[in-house]
Amino acid sequence: DDARAAGGSAFTFDEVEAGVDDKHHVAPGYDADVLLRWGDPLFADSPEFDPTKQSAQAQERQFGYNNDYVGYIPLDGSAEHGLLVVNHEYTNPHLMFPGLVTIVDGEAKQAPLSKEQVDVEMAAHGGTIVEIRKVSGKWQVVRDGKLNRRITSNTEMALSGPVAGHDRVKTNADPTGTKVIGTVNNCAGGVTPWGTYVMAEENIHGYFSGELPADHSEAANYKRLGIPEGAYEWAAHYDRFDLGKEPNEPNRFGWIVEVDVNDPTSTPKKRTAMGRFKHEGAESIVAKDGRVVFYLGDDERFDYVYKFVTAGKFNAEDRAANMDILDDGTLYVAKFAEDGTLEWLPIVFGQGPLTAENGFASQADVLIETRRAADLLGATKMDRPEDVQPNAANGKVYLMLTNNSKRKADQVDAANPRAENAFGHIIEIVEGGGDFTAAKGKWEVLLKCGDPSVAEVGATFSTATTANGWFGMPDNCAVDAAGRLWVSTDGQGPKATGRTDGLWAVDTEGEARATSKLFFRVPIGAEMCGPLFTPDDQTAFVAVQHPGDGGEDWEPFGRPSYYEDLSTRWPDFKPDMPVRPSVVAITKQGGGKIAV
Ligand code: FEO
Ligand code: CA
Ligand code: CA
Ligand code: CA
Repeated sequence: DDARAAGGSAFTFDEVEAGVDDKHHVAPGYDADVLLRWGDPLFADSPEFDPTKQSAQAQERQFGYNNDYVGYIPLDGSAEHGLLVVNHEYTNPHLMFPGLVTIVDGEAKQAPLSKEQVDVEMAAHGGTIVEIRKVSGKWQVVRDGKLNRRITSNTEMALSGPVAGHDRVKTNADPTGTKVIGTVNNCAGGVTPWGTYVMAEENIHGYFSGELPADHSEAANYKRLGIPEGAYEWAAHYDRFDLGKEPNEPNRFGWIVEVDVNDPTSTPKKRTAMGRFKHEGAESIVAKDGRVVFYLGDDERFDYVYKFVTAGKFNAEDRAANMDILDDGTLYVAKFAEDGTLEWLPIVFGQGPLTAENGFASQADVLIETRRAADLLGATKMDRPEDVQPNAANGKVYLMLTNNSKRKADQVDAANPRAENAFGHIIEIVEGGGDFTAAKGKWEVLLKCGDPSVAEVGATFSTATTANGWFGMPDNCAVDAAGRLWVSTDGQGPKATGRTDGLWAVDTEGEARATSKLFFRVPIGAEMCGPLFTPDDQTAFVAVQHPGDGGEDWEPFGRPSYYEDLSTRWPDFKPDMPVRPSVVAITKQGGGKIAV
């Protein structure tokens, strides 16, 4: 607090030098230890990772691909022994399977995936729940932890809440409309106050292929979400991803999934009351009156920010009493006014335009087409809402808006103030009366990102921010136990910003407000996910996603980074090992709180 009073940064560490190379870098005096790599064994009987002998059976017993959200659920209240929960957002087959890509006449050609490779991809998606323990200052994976679990694209789940059993979610395989197989594209997420793990389903459009039957009633609904994109080859082997064969299947994806980590046999539940869109994350906080508020971003250019307020109250004495609290509540979408006020518009069937006249027959219809409902309500079209983080220490909420190169000059507004917003910005929200359930609040732009030395970029980092300290493309974020904001980025690189992605410490209070410092950076091609601080602030877990990926942006390092010719071999740096997305544990040498 003395440092803050003097106008200095609340963060005490020496910055990393921004730049681009094939390794990770952390601030001096800290260790950054790789804890879990793609393919690492999670169970006593898991096979060791062998990139030349991949199978779905092995992958189901190993850490999945492209780690994104990282959460920590203490065991017995401990900051040194708990469950790490990690989302595996998507797969990069060109980086996973040796020989899949060949260079023909200077051009990269990717062969079609075999069914076995598709099965590996499906098993590499989803999430990991794994017991970890700190021993002599270093984190270890407890391989025989009895709560260890892999969630995959083949895990049976329940649809619950208002959409469960609706005709629009019934399929040939599930005529009840209540039983879904798997989850995909789990980007960020959250841990609830009652210790469950919530996984957001984001870019679901890529998994679907084929064509809807002519004049199908879901055509407009799917178009609003870009379905089908056909980026994955799963439909070739599994009918549920083929719109021609299972036209209702996409309505069963795009939800928030809740997992009870205390029972490894529990059925994950898709909580339909929280809306269907390209869910980025689901961070939550208990409001003054005991109701629980979840902040939800929809990551698409010109899409919206939502919050969900439970009808019931959090019961701290009885965990079981909270287990279906997410099935009943009110979903709101944000309208940011030019005068710095904010209105949360309820998305409720029968209210305003959400009626039969506009094609809604029930709340289930409204939730299946959440985006269209929000369009009709006149919500504010944002520059790609990513993670939204409430801060219990100061009552504020931070909203990451990663970028929107398509916003035209005549489309700017106060909350999205830059045309061709290449570097993104961060908005700070204060809810009315300091009550997270409030229907109204205030907001201001905390930070416009990008290089502050280039005037036309219009970045607003403080003058105390060094040439290493600025960043672009905010994505995930965290608030530590001291209430300080940490921001990780997605999309920087040699051409975009002359630096790789990383984790930045961002001051929000006092004279140091909008000062940013670089704490950790990733190897080339990666984005920075996580981040997550243990309750004692002595460990920061970060997730290095898709290291070595990228196209022309990585030319200074030679070819695009295909398996046989990678620009980095992080984290193993062995010629027979591909790049591996990994979770890294950052601790202070000799112990102690981070950045204090
Ligand atoms: Fe998966 Fe919006 O990042
Ligand atoms: Ca993200
Ligand atoms: Ca977060
Ligand atoms: Ca992103």
